[in-house]
Amino acid sequence: MSEPLIIAIDGPAASGKGTLSRRLASFYGLRHLDTGTLYRGVAWIMLRDGFEPRDEAAAVKVARAFDPEILGSADLRTPAVGRSASLVAVHEGVRKALFDFQRSFGLQKPGAVLDGRDIGTVIFPDATVKFFITASPEERAQRRYLELRASDEGVTYEGTLAELKRRDERDQSREEAPLKPAAEAEIIDTSKLTPDEVMARAVRIIDNVVRGR
Ligand code: DC
Repeated sequence: MSEPLIIAIDGPAASGKGTLSRRLASFYGLRHLDTGTLYRGVAWIMLRDGFEPRDEAAAVKVARAFDPEILGSADLRTPAVGRSASLVAVHEGVRKALFDFQRSFGLQKPGAVLDGRDIGTVIFPDATVKFFITASPEERAQRRYLELRASDEGVTYEGTLAELKRRDERDQSREEAPLKPAAEAEIIDTSKLTPDEVMARAVRIIDNVVRGR
């Protein structure tokens, strides 16, 4: 009986971890969970209901009652939701409330790719393979800027870079599950790589690990 294959992918915003995760899930026939959407979902409900994301008691209540079914219907990709997600993610009670859902998602056969900030360090320290996907802040800001510009003419590169650095700083310095590479994580800097090159590297690493299992 083989164990579920669990691929943990962590990294900062716009590092390319989402693209890699989707491609790996489809290549290996695994399920995929973008765990950022859980924090974004909690933040979206908080904003909708008029709560301050820094209000810990309210955030924990929303996270405990959270039903991932709503993820399909909410617009979670806006900068305001991303910023609030990073604020609600600081609360220990919020992270605890979302823990079981992430574990049970990954443990169903045949396994899963989970991407986020603390998958290899906290959610699946026992993952089959761990990656930390990163890129320079300037490269990530440029990617995010091009994405946002398609729907918002007022967006600037400088503003995008400043917001991204603020979010990195908050995600890295919080006490609970800060963003950092797991000890055994394979680090891939995507600044000068195409998505195909990142994918090829990751597949090589995974195939090596799986062969050795
Ligand atoms: O990956 P993203 O931009 O969708 O994540 C939004 C915020 O959610 C991010 O700034 C921090 C938080 N987050 C987290 O704390 N832990 C995760 N596993 C995923 C996201």
